[in-house]
Amino acid sequence: MPIIRTPQEFNEEDLFVDLREMYGYPIYLKCEGFNFAGSVKLKAAASMVEAAERSGLLHRDSILIESSSGNLGMALSVIAAVKGYRFVCVVDPRTNLSTRQLIESLGGEVHMITEPTGGGGFLGARLDHVRSLCDADPRYLWLNQHANPNNWRAHYRTTAPAIDHRFPQLELLFVGAGTTGTLMGCARYFKEHNPGVTVVAVDSVGSVTFGGEPGLRMLPGLGAGVRPALLDEDYVDDVVHVPEIDTIRTCHTLARGGFLFGGSTGTVVSGALKWLARNRPGQDVTAVAISPDQGDRYLDTIYQTNWVRDIYGLDALELPAEPDAVASGVH
Ligand SMILES: Cc1ncc(COP(=O)(O)O)c(C=O)c1O
Repeated sequence: MPIIRTPQEFNEEDLFVDLREMYGYPIYLKCEGFNFAGSVKLKAAASMVEAAERSGLLHRDSILIESSSGNLGMALSVIAAVKGYRFVCVVDPRTNLSTRQLIESLGGEVHMITEPTGGGGFLGARLDHVRSLCDADPRYLWLNQHANPNNWRAHYRTTAPAIDHRFPQLELLFVGAGTTGTLMGCARYFKEHNPGVTVVAVDSVGSVTFGGEPGLRMLPGLGAGVRPALLDEDYVDDVVHVPEIDTIRTCHTLARGGFLFGGSTGTVVSGALKWLARNRPGQDVTAVAISPDQGDRYLDTIYQTNWVRDIYGLDALELPAEPDAVASGVH
């Protein structure tokens, strides 16, 4: 049993949910939502703050600032609280209310951006706000999760080796792409240490990360309106895009099995099932998918019937009758 002094010391690295019974494919879901920030982002936050301290960029009167769809903001609030830094989090309306409340409860300050920019969507508008504050006051330190290599290094050092250790015969790894920190850290690790592993990025329809057309996306976490600076496609073997309606259906199916996961878990599982049905139909492969967070922060969106119906229509609330229908790539 671990005994810790600071919240960032605890990260559950060895929890995998076997989805074979639910979906017919042996996908092992690595759960990253079991820590004191409730998401995979605690690793990136700790890694970026510690690197800034080592380099001397971060000092007592610094104000940390970050643009975040929520989870990094929550994670930085945890780290800022334990280390005694001020923290400003720039969010947009897709950030869950409960996440905003959590950030404030930990002492963080939330700045809400309400209008997207023409070319860059909400992300572009959030970044403009961060830049203007940094230009106006030198105490602001922007860790910039979108371009900071200490974001992907966290996963190169922890997430990927933990998967490699547990599944030395791994064939396929499915990773959602937001800033692409998780994706790039894992992809670099496996290219160097176990190049037989096929790394598949999972993105949402409407994201421009892999060159798709920009479109409306309502769920935080995955996808981007601006191509992430961390992304190096040479390390990524394939990409699958998932429409948000499939994310919702997959989250609801997982919840029927007693697993309440966040939106990007639904996206990643849906994308993995689609990819497997297309590329390895009926084959017994060893596959891992990464689940970034749990579902309790999505009670007023993904798990709220009226919200789902108003945005995606009644179809979104219909679950496939047989789990096999999902595994054979029907939706
Ligand atoms: C819920 C959720 N899923 C996925 C991601 C994407 O992870 P990454 O930024 O490492 O690509 C994030 C990042 O903020 C997230 O909060």
